[in-house]
Amino acid sequence: MNDCNNPLIGAPSKPLPDKIGVIGAGTIGPDIAYYLKSAIPGLSLVLIDIVDDQLDKAIRRIEAYADKGVKRGKLTAQQAAGVMQNLTVSTDYSMLADCDWVIEAATENLDLKHKIFAQVESVVSKDALISSNTSAIPAAWLFSELRHPERCTVTHFFAPAFSNPVVEVVDWPGGSAAALEYLRWFFCATGKVPMVTTDVVCFMLDRIFDNWCNEAAYLITDASAREIDSIALDYVHAGPFDVLNFANGNEIIPEVNTMQANEEGDHYRPAPYFGSVKTWNTVPRGEPIAVPPEKADRIRDRLLGIVFSQTVDIVDRSIGTSADLELGCRLAFAFRKGPLKLMRELGEAEVTRIMQRLQNERPGMPLPGQDIARYYDFHQYLLVDDVDGVKVITIRRPEALNALDDELNDEIFSVIRRYEDDPQVKGFVLTGYGNRAFCAGADIGRFPEYLGDADAAAQYARDSSRLLRHIDGMTKPVVAAVNGMALGGGLELAFRCHGIVAVHAAWLQLPEITLGIVPGIGGMVIPYRRWPDAALTFHDMLRSGRKLDAETASKLNIIDELADDYADLITRAVQKVDSMQGRTVKIADESVTIPSFKPMQPMTTDGQVLSSTVISITENAVTEAALSPSLEAALEVGYLAFGKSACTAAAREGIESFQQRRQPDFGKTG
Ligand code: COA
Repeated sequence: MNDCNNPLIGAPSKPLPDKIGVIGAGTIGPDIAYYLKSAIPGLSLVLIDIVDDQLDKAIRRIEAYADKGVKRGKLTAQQAAGVMQNLTVSTDYSMLADCDWVIEAATENLDLKHKIFAQVESVVSKDALISSNTSAIPAAWLFSELRHPERCTVTHFFAPAFSNPVVEVVDWPGGSAAALEYLRWFFCATGKVPMVTTDVVCFMLDRIFDNWCNEAAYLITDASAREIDSIALDYVHAGPFDVLNFANGNEIIPEVNTMQANEEGDHYRPAPYFGSVKTWNTVPRGEPIAVPPEKADRIRDRLLGIVFSQTVDIVDRSIGTSADLELGCRLAFAFRKGPLKLMRELGEAEVTRIMQRLQNERPGMPLPGQDIARYYDFHQYLLVDDVDGVKVITIRRPEALNALDDELNDEIFSVIRRYEDDPQVKGFVLTGYGNRAFCAGADIGRFPEYLGDADAAAQYARDSSRLLRHIDGMTKPVVAAVNGMALGGGLELAFRCHGIVAVHAAWLQLPEITLGIVPGIGGMVIPYRRWPDAALTFHDMLRSGRKLDAETASKLNIIDELADDYADLITRAVQKVDSMQGRTVKIADESVTIPSFKPMQPMTTDGQVLSSTVISITENAVTEAALSPSLEAALEVGYLAFGKSACTAAAREGIESFQQRRQPDFGKTG
């Protein structure tokens, strides 16, 4: 069994399901069905409802999603056709008989759900998984009366379920560890981010969301929905009333808050205004209105107070992990920052003041059970596991395909520092969360601030290299376990590891040239000093952005070993650490001879025009770095070239076009 934080370490107890049933063709059922059908080629899926018309609408909706997926380039026409194959709808529960898993996504009504589960259990095998998509009703209330409750739990999706990666998976006393672990593996393997919670009303994330909306409704006597949403926009992308409109929350919030009040105290009672309003009058997203200062302070304090109150309660009662709570709020509720990060930034004194105000105005709400500073002691972006004496560090930043930012770099650095002198720790494996990305590079969101400033950009590259320079000097091995794409800064990180193991489907790319910049943290230096025989391949990758598949990289000895799947990848990477004891790779510290650059068309393999200016910066830097008498001097050439590239018109165009999701036009920039 896998009790690791990273759900993909360790082989699953069984393969992906062949057939899944989804009950409920209302709002979320078809969205779940579409996610499953697009994530698992060949899956049979049956969608059950009591109303034929609802089922017809669901099919049309799924078809429309698949069409949109093709238009946006997310699915091929063949994949879209696959979504509609083996997809059946029915009002007959006997169609569920051979399902490996049945997911209930019907109305939030305990009696109805009891009836559904009794019916499901009467037709499925005793090993079939059964789960409920309830957002609030504990698993013990739902499943305790069943004959085989151990294979049941709650799997709570967030809207829209096909694209929102978060799924809460409930760990309840009647459920088996095997079912929980399998579901964690399943979701992670199919592109979701499973978050395990305990079996309390509202689980983890809706404690934040429901109470935040409820608090907003309490404030409505003294402020308008437009004012309240405007203040919330400081830290979320959409205010509570905007989201209530979007999610038809006016009925749900009072129901679940009543449930929470009945279980945990009257302070959770719903505000009286939900019943009287159908649609709230809100501000357009990103367009807050001015609010008088005193009123603004009160709204801000109360909304943040309730969020912090729920946050400390979740952490103190271990309802979920701090890292999941942070990530869940960002992914599921469009918080700009997780609540713990918000608390850290506001500082202890300010958080204490806000909590005191909440205590005065809303007595009974949970307060911190420990020093506030202790709540910040966790990794935001990393999962750390111990596998046979090796620390496996998993980069988990799914919203940016595990792209590196400063805090993430610092977290990796701090884990390495913490354990590198520990005699119990043999070394480190670095990998990415999920099956798609090892790491999609440095965070492009940071680049605009350096455009036009060569010194600042070069210094950014130097600063970002601290972790890499440290790895260069380590005697304890660090092995990269490349589980998917390794791009730009992510590949530069893998290049610095003392060994690289990759799954067959992985690929390597230095796409900076397509952004009008150069890879500044060793990408123009290290490959030539480590794998001089592959120099022409690196010339090509740097100048055209060409992808290098894992099999070719393995033939060129850039990748040491190929693995069949994620579990095999980690096993091999851990063994590699074991086999390398005391023999970490040292990168050549003297100049190297490289082949000269032949003239080329400034163009990617698929015909995108590239910047001749930046290609020329690349060629000069690679040549100068190869001639440099030391590694340090060569790296410095790279930092300076990054600074130079940041001052080109091509860089501005490349970065802007990425952020605007359009093709860059380097024809006009040169
Ligand atoms: N920095 C910051 N965010 C990144 C990122 C990076 N290096 N790479 C991907 N992301 C973000 C995207 O902006 C997107 O965020 P959004 O959903 O808020 O818009 C999210 O990750 C998913 O990426 P998306 O582009 O929607 O996925 P895709 O499947 O269409 O494309 C890639 C995948 C990798 C081809 C594309 O994301 C890409 O080109 N990324 C940049 C890679 C790069 O140039 N890296 C080198 C930088 S040093």
